[in-house]
Amino acid sequence: MKITSLKINNFRNYNKLVLDFNPSKNIIIGKNGMGKTNIVEAIYVLALTKSFRGSKDDVIINYNSDNTRVEGTVVDEYKQDYKIVISKDENKKVWINKKKIPKLVDYLSNINIVLFTVDDLKLVKDTPNTRRKLINIELSQFSNDYLKITTLYNKILKQRNSYLKTLYLNGNASHEYLDIITSKLIDYAIKIYEYRYNFIEDISKYITDNYKKITGLDNLKIVYKSDFMNKSREDIEKLYKKNKERDIYSGITNIGVHRDDFDFILDNKPLKDYGSEGEQKNAVIALKMAEIEIFKDKKNIIPILILDDLFSELDKTKINNIFKFIDNDIQTFITTTEITKLSKKLRDNSKIFIVNNGVVDIKES
Ligand SMILES: Nc1ncnc2c1ncn2[C@@H]1O[C@H](COP(=O)(O)OP(=O)(O)O)[C@@H](O)[C@H]1O
Ligand SMILES: [Mg+2]
Repeated sequence: MKITSLKINNFRNYNKLVLDFNPSKNIIIGKNGMGKTNIVEAIYVLALTKSFRGSKDDVIINYNSDNTRVEGTVVDEYKQDYKIVISKDENKKVWINKKKIPKLVDYLSNINIVLFTVDDLKLVKDTPNTRRKLINIELSQFSNDYLKITTLYNKILKQRNSYLKTLYLNGNASHEYLDIITSKLIDYAIKIYEYRYNFIEDISKYITDNYKKITGLDNLKIVYKSDFMNKSREDIEKLYKKNKERDIYSGITNIGVHRDDFDFILDNKPLKDYGSEGEQKNAVIALKMAEIEIFKDKKNIIPILILDDLFSELDKTKINNIFKFIDNDIQTFITTTEITKLSKKLRDNSKIFIVNNGVVDIKES
Protein backbone atom coordinates (compact mmCIF):
# COMPACT_ATOMS: atom_id res chain seq x y z
CA MET A 1 0.00 0.00 0.00
CA LYS A 2 1.40 3.36 -1.01
CA ILE A 3 0.25 6.91 -0.75
CA THR A 4 1.17 8.60 -4.01
CA SER A 5 -0.02 12.12 -3.31
CA LEU A 6 -1.22 14.32 -0.49
CA LYS A 7 -3.07 17.60 -0.53
CA ILE A 8 -3.66 19.52 2.68
CA ASN A 9 -5.50 22.69 3.55
CA ASN A 10 -5.31 24.67 6.78
CA PHE A 11 -3.64 21.79 8.56
CA ARG A 12 -1.40 22.92 11.47
CA ASN A 13 1.14 25.40 10.04
CA TYR A 14 0.26 24.62 6.41
CA ASN A 15 -2.19 26.76 4.48
CA LYS A 16 -1.99 24.77 1.31
CA LEU A 17 0.38 21.99 0.46
CA VAL A 18 0.50 19.47 -2.37
CA LEU A 19 3.09 16.69 -2.38
CA ASP A 20 3.88 13.66 -4.51
CA PHE A 21 5.62 10.84 -2.72
CA ASN A 22 8.17 8.23 -3.61
CA PRO A 23 6.70 4.71 -3.56
CA SER A 24 9.66 3.58 -1.48
CA LYS A 25 11.49 6.00 0.83
CA ASN A 26 10.64 9.59 1.71
CA ILE A 27 12.82 11.67 3.99
CA ILE A 28 11.43 14.85 5.51
CA ILE A 29 14.16 17.04 6.87
CA GLY A 30 14.21 20.37 8.69
CA LYS A 31 14.96 22.09 11.97
CA ASN A 32 12.72 21.60 15.00
CA GLY A 33 9.31 23.25 14.83
CA MET A 34 9.33 23.63 11.03
CA GLY A 35 6.46 21.29 10.24
CA LYS A 36 7.99 17.86 9.59
CA THR A 37 5.75 15.89 11.93
CA ASN A 38 2.75 17.86 10.68
CA ILE A 39 3.18 16.24 7.24
CA VAL A 40 3.22 12.67 8.52
CA GLU A 41 0.46 13.57 10.95
CA ALA A 42 -1.69 14.59 7.96
CA ILE A 43 -1.11 11.16 6.39
CA TYR A 44 -2.05 9.55 9.71
CA VAL A 45 -5.21 11.63 10.03
CA LEU A 46 -6.22 10.72 6.49
CA ALA A 47 -5.90 7.05 7.48
CA LEU A 48 -7.22 6.99 11.03
CA THR A 49 -9.34 10.17 11.13
CA LYS A 50 -7.56 11.39 14.23
CA SER A 51 -4.12 12.51 15.23
CA PHE A 52 -1.59 10.64 17.31
CA ARG A 53 -0.77 13.92 19.08
CA GLY A 54 -3.10 15.71 21.48
CA SER A 55 -6.39 14.43 22.69
CA LYS A 56 -8.67 16.96 21.03
CA ASP A 57 -9.51 16.56 17.37
CA ASP A 58 -9.42 20.23 16.45
CA VAL A 59 -5.81 20.94 17.47
CA ILE A 60 -4.77 20.08 13.92
CA ILE A 61 -6.88 22.87 12.42
CA ASN A 62 -4.78 25.90 11.48
CA TYR A 63 -5.10 28.67 14.08
CA ASN A 64 -6.69 31.00 11.52
CA SER A 65 -9.24 28.58 10.17
CA ASP A 66 -12.40 26.77 11.23
CA ASN A 67 -11.74 23.57 9.38
CA THR A 68 -9.02 21.48 7.81
CA ARG A 69 -9.05 19.22 4.77
CA VAL A 70 -6.70 16.37 3.92
CA GLU A 71 -6.86 14.49 0.64
CA GLY A 72 -4.71 11.69 -0.69
CA THR A 73 -4.45 9.01 -3.31
CA VAL A 74 -3.54 5.55 -2.09
CA VAL A 75 -2.59 2.70 -4.36
CA ASP A 76 -3.05 -0.87 -3.28
CA GLU A 77 -4.92 -3.45 -5.28
CA TYR A 78 -6.77 -0.47 -6.66
CA LYS A 79 -6.19 3.23 -6.65
CA GLN A 80 -8.49 5.15 -4.32
CA ASP A 81 -8.94 8.79 -3.43
CA TYR A 82 -9.56 9.58 0.22
CA LYS A 83 -10.67 12.82 1.78
CA ILE A 84 -11.39 14.00 5.31
CA VAL A 85 -12.69 17.32 6.58
CA ILE A 86 -12.45 18.17 10.28
CA SER A 87 -14.28 21.26 11.49
CA LYS A 88 -14.43 23.10 14.78
CA ASP A 89 -18.16 22.79 15.22
CA GLU A 90 -19.27 19.99 12.94
CA ASN A 91 -18.73 16.24 12.87
CA LYS A 92 -15.89 14.81 10.82
CA LYS A 93 -16.72 14.05 7.22
CA VAL A 94 -15.03 11.45 5.04
CA TRP A 95 -15.11 10.47 1.37
CA ILE A 96 -13.74 7.62 -0.70
CA ASN A 97 -13.57 8.26 -4.45
CA LYS A 98 -15.70 11.38 -4.00
CA LYS A 99 -18.46 9.31 -2.38
CA LYS A 100 -19.39 10.44 1.10
CA ILE A 101 -19.11 7.66 3.68
CA PRO A 102 -21.77 8.22 6.35
CA LYS A 103 -20.15 6.12 9.09
CA LEU A 104 -16.54 6.57 10.15
CA VAL A 105 -16.16 2.84 10.90
CA ASP A 106 -16.74 2.11 7.24
CA TYR A 107 -13.96 4.49 6.27
CA LEU A 108 -11.42 3.32 8.83
CA SER A 109 -9.13 0.34 8.31
CA ASN A 110 -8.75 1.14 4.59
CA ILE A 111 -5.40 2.91 4.82
CA ASN A 112 -3.02 0.97 7.05
CA ILE A 113 -0.21 2.62 8.93
CA VAL A 114 2.47 1.52 11.31
CA LEU A 115 3.60 4.57 13.21
CA PHE A 116 6.80 4.61 15.21
CA THR A 117 7.54 7.73 17.27
CA VAL A 118 9.89 8.76 20.03
CA ASP A 119 7.03 8.26 22.52
CA ASP A 120 6.74 4.61 21.48
CA LEU A 121 10.29 4.04 22.69
CA LYS A 122 8.94 4.50 26.22
CA LEU A 123 6.23 1.90 25.67
CA VAL A 124 7.77 -0.74 27.95
CA LYS A 125 7.66 1.57 30.96
CA ASP A 126 4.61 3.59 29.97
CA THR A 127 1.13 3.25 31.51
CA PRO A 128 -1.16 0.28 30.71
CA ASN A 129 -3.43 2.82 29.06
CA THR A 130 -0.76 3.63 26.45
CA ARG A 131 -0.18 -0.05 25.70
CA ARG A 132 -3.94 -0.65 25.39
CA LYS A 133 -4.17 2.27 23.01
CA LEU A 134 -1.54 0.67 20.80
CA ILE A 135 -3.47 -2.62 20.71
CA ASN A 136 -6.69 -0.78 19.93
CA ILE A 137 -5.20 1.21 17.08
CA GLU A 138 -3.65 -1.89 15.54
CA LEU A 139 -6.70 -4.08 15.91
CA SER A 140 -9.07 -1.47 14.54
CA GLN A 141 -6.89 -1.30 11.44
CA PHE A 142 -7.22 -5.06 11.05
CA SER A 143 -10.94 -5.24 11.56
CA ASN A 144 -13.75 -2.74 11.79
CA ASP A 145 -15.72 -5.34 13.70
CA TYR A 146 -13.25 -4.84 16.55
CA LEU A 147 -13.80 -1.11 16.36
CA LYS A 148 -17.58 -1.53 16.49
CA ILE A 149 -17.38 -3.87 19.47
CA THR A 150 -15.05 -1.64 21.48
CA THR A 151 -17.34 1.31 20.83
CA LEU A 152 -20.32 -0.67 22.12
CA TYR A 153 -18.31 -1.96 25.07
CA ASN A 154 -17.30 1.55 26.12
CA LYS A 155 -20.90 2.69 25.92
CA ILE A 156 -22.16 -0.15 28.11
CA LEU A 157 -19.29 0.31 30.54
CA LYS A 158 -20.29 3.96 30.98
CA GLN A 159 -23.90 2.93 31.56
CA ARG A 160 -22.86 0.31 34.07
CA ASN A 161 -20.65 2.74 35.99
CA SER A 162 -23.39 5.30 36.11
CA TYR A 163 -25.91 2.70 37.30
CA LEU A 164 -23.49 1.57 40.00
CA LYS A 165 -23.58 5.12 41.34
CA THR A 166 -27.38 5.06 41.25
CA LEU A 167 -27.36 1.84 43.27
CA TYR A 168 -24.99 3.35 45.79
CA LEU A 169 -27.26 6.31 46.36
CA ASN A 170 -30.50 4.39 46.20
CA GLY A 171 -30.54 1.02 47.95
CA ASN A 172 -33.95 0.22 46.45
CA ALA A 173 -32.85 0.50 42.83
CA SER A 174 -33.14 -2.72 40.86
CA HIS A 175 -30.22 -5.15 40.88
CA GLU A 176 -31.81 -6.98 38.01
CA TYR A 177 -31.04 -4.09 35.70
CA LEU A 178 -27.39 -4.20 36.79
CA ASP A 179 -27.30 -7.92 35.96
CA ILE A 180 -28.67 -7.26 32.49
CA ILE A 181 -26.06 -4.59 31.78
CA THR A 182 -23.32 -6.79 33.20
CA SER A 183 -24.29 -9.69 30.99
CA LYS A 184 -24.23 -7.46 27.90
CA LEU A 185 -20.86 -6.07 29.01
CA ILE A 186 -19.46 -9.59 29.31
CA ASP A 187 -20.72 -10.47 25.80
CA TYR A 188 -18.67 -7.67 24.25
CA ALA A 189 -15.74 -8.13 26.60
CA ILE A 190 -15.29 -11.78 25.62
CA LYS A 191 -15.09 -10.78 21.97
CA ILE A 192 -12.57 -8.05 22.73
CA TYR A 193 -10.57 -10.49 24.81
CA GLU A 194 -10.45 -12.98 21.95
CA TYR A 195 -9.30 -10.37 19.46
CA ARG A 196 -6.58 -9.19 21.81
CA TYR A 197 -5.51 -12.67 22.79
CA ASN A 198 -5.00 -13.61 19.16
CA PHE A 199 -3.22 -10.35 18.43
CA ILE A 200 -0.73 -10.86 21.25
CA GLU A 201 -0.24 -14.44 20.05
CA ASP A 202 0.55 -13.10 16.59
CA ILE A 203 2.96 -10.55 18.00
CA SER A 204 4.60 -13.33 20.05
CA LYS A 205 5.27 -15.30 16.90
CA TYR A 206 7.43 -12.53 15.51
CA ILE A 207 8.80 -10.58 18.42
CA THR A 208 11.24 -13.25 19.61
CA ASP A 209 12.70 -13.69 16.13
CA ASN A 210 12.87 -9.96 15.55
CA TYR A 211 14.65 -9.40 18.84
CA LYS A 212 17.08 -12.12 17.88
CA LYS A 213 17.71 -10.46 14.53
CA ILE A 214 18.56 -7.29 16.44
CA THR A 215 20.53 -8.58 19.43
CA GLY A 216 21.42 -12.18 18.64
CA LEU A 217 19.49 -13.33 21.72
CA ASP A 218 16.25 -15.27 21.65
CA ASN A 219 14.99 -14.45 25.11
CA LEU A 220 12.27 -11.82 24.56
CA LYS A 221 8.60 -12.63 24.99
CA ILE A 222 5.38 -10.70 25.26
CA VAL A 223 2.51 -11.75 27.51
CA TYR A 224 -1.10 -10.65 27.63
CA LYS A 225 -2.50 -9.71 31.04
CA SER A 226 -6.25 -9.75 31.43
CA ASP A 227 -8.82 -10.43 34.14
CA PHE A 228 -10.38 -12.80 31.60
CA MET A 229 -7.26 -14.93 31.12
CA ASN A 230 -8.04 -18.66 31.08
CA LYS A 231 -11.60 -18.15 32.28
CA SER A 232 -14.87 -19.58 31.05
CA ARG A 233 -17.96 -17.41 30.75
CA GLU A 234 -19.19 -18.95 34.01
CA ASP A 235 -15.96 -18.01 35.78
CA ILE A 236 -16.24 -14.49 34.46
CA GLU A 237 -19.84 -14.11 35.64
CA LYS A 238 -18.79 -15.32 39.08
CA LEU A 239 -15.99 -12.78 39.12
CA TYR A 240 -18.45 -9.96 38.42
CA LYS A 241 -20.76 -11.24 41.17
CA LYS A 242 -17.87 -11.39 43.59
CA ASN A 243 -16.94 -7.80 42.79
CA LYS A 244 -20.47 -6.44 42.78
CA GLU A 245 -20.44 -4.85 46.21
CA ARG A 246 -17.00 -3.35 45.63
CA ASP A 247 -18.18 -1.99 42.26
CA ILE A 248 -21.23 -0.37 43.85
CA TYR A 249 -19.16 1.08 46.65
CA SER A 250 -16.53 2.53 44.33
CA GLY A 251 -18.93 3.50 41.53
CA ILE A 252 -16.74 1.92 38.87
CA THR A 253 -16.32 -1.46 37.23
CA ASN A 254 -13.20 -2.86 38.84
CA ILE A 255 -12.63 -5.81 36.53
CA GLY A 256 -12.76 -6.22 32.79
CA VAL A 257 -10.93 -5.77 29.51
CA HIS A 258 -10.71 -2.01 30.05
CA ARG A 259 -7.90 -2.89 32.47
CA ASP A 260 -6.02 -5.20 30.08
CA ASP A 261 -2.30 -4.85 29.65
CA PHE A 262 0.68 -6.67 28.23
CA ASP A 263 4.22 -7.15 29.48
CA PHE A 264 7.54 -7.55 27.80
CA ILE A 265 9.48 -10.39 29.38
CA LEU A 266 13.22 -10.75 28.93
CA ASP A 267 14.86 -13.85 30.35
CA ASN A 268 11.66 -14.59 32.28
CA LYS A 269 11.76 -11.21 34.03
CA PRO A 270 9.61 -8.14 33.33
CA LEU A 271 11.62 -5.87 31.08
CA LYS A 272 10.12 -2.77 32.66
CA ASP A 273 11.63 -3.62 36.05
CA TYR A 274 14.93 -5.16 35.05
CA GLY A 275 15.76 -4.13 31.50
CA SER A 276 18.29 -1.49 30.52
CA GLU A 277 17.18 1.43 28.39
CA GLY A 278 18.87 -0.14 25.37
CA GLU A 279 17.10 -3.46 25.88
CA GLN A 280 13.77 -1.68 26.22
CA LYS A 281 14.30 0.27 23.01
CA ASN A 282 15.30 -2.87 21.12
CA ALA A 283 12.19 -4.63 22.41
CA VAL A 284 10.00 -1.83 21.07
CA ILE A 285 11.76 -1.99 17.69
CA ALA A 286 11.09 -5.75 17.65
CA LEU A 287 7.42 -5.11 18.47
CA LYS A 288 6.92 -2.38 15.86
CA MET A 289 8.51 -4.49 13.16
CA ALA A 290 6.25 -7.38 14.20
CA GLU A 291 3.26 -5.13 13.51
CA ILE A 292 4.36 -4.83 9.87
CA GLU A 293 4.60 -8.60 9.54
CA ILE A 294 1.15 -9.14 11.00
CA PHE A 295 -0.35 -6.81 8.40
CA LYS A 296 1.37 -8.89 5.73
CA ASP A 297 0.19 -12.12 7.32
CA LYS A 298 -3.37 -11.29 8.29
CA LYS A 299 -4.45 -8.82 5.65
CA ASN A 300 -1.98 -9.52 2.90
CA ILE A 301 -1.18 -5.83 3.00
CA ILE A 302 2.08 -4.00 3.35
CA PRO A 303 1.30 -1.00 5.56
CA ILE A 304 2.78 2.46 5.24
CA LEU A 305 5.56 2.97 7.77
CA ILE A 306 6.13 6.29 9.50
CA LEU A 307 9.29 6.85 11.54
CA ASP A 308 8.85 10.21 13.24
CA ASP A 309 11.97 11.83 14.64
CA LEU A 310 13.16 8.47 15.91
CA PHE A 311 16.75 9.10 15.06
CA SER A 312 17.08 11.84 17.65
CA GLU A 313 16.76 9.09 20.28
CA LEU A 314 18.53 6.17 18.63
CA ASP A 315 22.20 5.53 17.95
CA LYS A 316 23.46 4.40 14.54
CA THR A 317 23.39 0.70 15.47
CA LYS A 318 19.73 0.82 16.45
CA ILE A 319 18.84 2.82 13.36
CA ASN A 320 20.53 0.18 11.22
CA ASN A 321 18.63 -2.50 13.14
CA ILE A 322 15.37 -0.92 12.05
CA PHE A 323 16.48 -0.86 8.44
CA LYS A 324 17.21 -4.60 8.59
CA PHE A 325 13.43 -5.01 8.53
CA ILE A 326 12.50 -2.43 5.94
CA ASP A 327 12.44 -3.75 2.40
CA ASN A 328 12.03 -1.52 -0.59
CA ASP A 329 8.42 -2.58 -0.91
CA ILE A 330 7.44 -0.85 2.36
CA GLN A 331 6.69 2.78 1.70
CA THR A 332 8.50 4.63 4.46
CA PHE A 333 8.37 8.20 5.75
CA ILE A 334 11.28 9.35 7.84
CA THR A 335 11.36 12.72 9.57
CA THR A 336 14.65 13.92 10.98
CA THR A 337 16.66 16.98 11.89
CA GLU A 338 19.93 15.21 11.17
CA ILE A 339 20.21 13.81 7.70
CA THR A 340 23.79 12.79 8.45
CA LYS A 341 22.47 10.01 10.71
CA LEU A 342 21.12 8.30 7.60
CA SER A 343 23.40 6.33 5.31
CA LYS A 344 24.39 7.74 1.92
CA LYS A 345 22.80 4.74 0.25
CA LEU A 346 19.48 5.51 1.91
CA ARG A 347 19.69 9.20 1.03
CA ASP A 348 20.47 8.40 -2.59
CA ASN A 349 17.47 6.11 -2.80
CA SER A 350 14.97 8.49 -1.21
CA LYS A 351 12.91 11.44 -2.19
CA ILE A 352 13.98 14.27 0.09
CA PHE A 353 11.65 17.03 1.28
CA ILE A 354 13.18 20.05 2.97
CA VAL A 355 10.80 21.79 5.36
CA ASN A 356 11.25 25.38 6.40
CA ASN A 357 8.48 27.06 8.37
CA GLY A 358 5.61 25.50 6.51
CA VAL A 359 7.30 25.72 3.11
CA VAL A 360 8.43 22.48 1.49
CA ASP A 361 11.18 22.20 -1.12
CA ILE A 362 12.16 19.08 -2.93
CA LYS A 363 15.83 18.30 -3.08
CA GLU A 364 16.85 17.50 -6.61
CA SER A 365 19.46 14.77 -6.69
N1 LIG B 1 -3.13 24.34 14.83
C1 LIG B 1 -1.99 24.93 14.41
N2 LIG B 1 -2.04 26.00 13.57
C2 LIG B 1 -0.89 26.59 13.14
N3 LIG B 1 0.34 26.18 13.47
C3 LIG B 1 0.44 25.12 14.30
C4 LIG B 1 -0.72 24.45 14.81
N4 LIG B 1 -0.30 23.44 15.61
C5 LIG B 1 1.05 23.48 15.59
N5 LIG B 1 1.50 24.47 14.81
C6 LIG B 1 2.90 24.83 14.53
O1 LIG B 1 3.53 23.76 13.88
C7 LIG B 1 4.91 23.78 14.20
C8 LIG B 1 5.39 22.44 14.66
O2 LIG B 1 5.36 21.59 13.62
P1 LIG B 1 5.95 20.12 13.74
O3 LIG B 1 5.58 19.42 12.49
O4 LIG B 1 5.56 19.50 15.01
O5 LIG B 1 7.52 20.44 13.80
P2 LIG B 1 8.73 19.47 13.58
O6 LIG B 1 9.38 19.93 12.30
O7 LIG B 1 9.61 19.72 14.75
O8 LIG B 1 8.24 18.09 13.51
C9 LIG B 1 5.10 24.77 15.33
O9 LIG B 1 5.70 25.91 14.79
C10 LIG B 1 3.70 25.04 15.79
O10 LIG B 1 3.55 26.34 16.27
MG1 LIG C 1 8.53 16.56 14.93
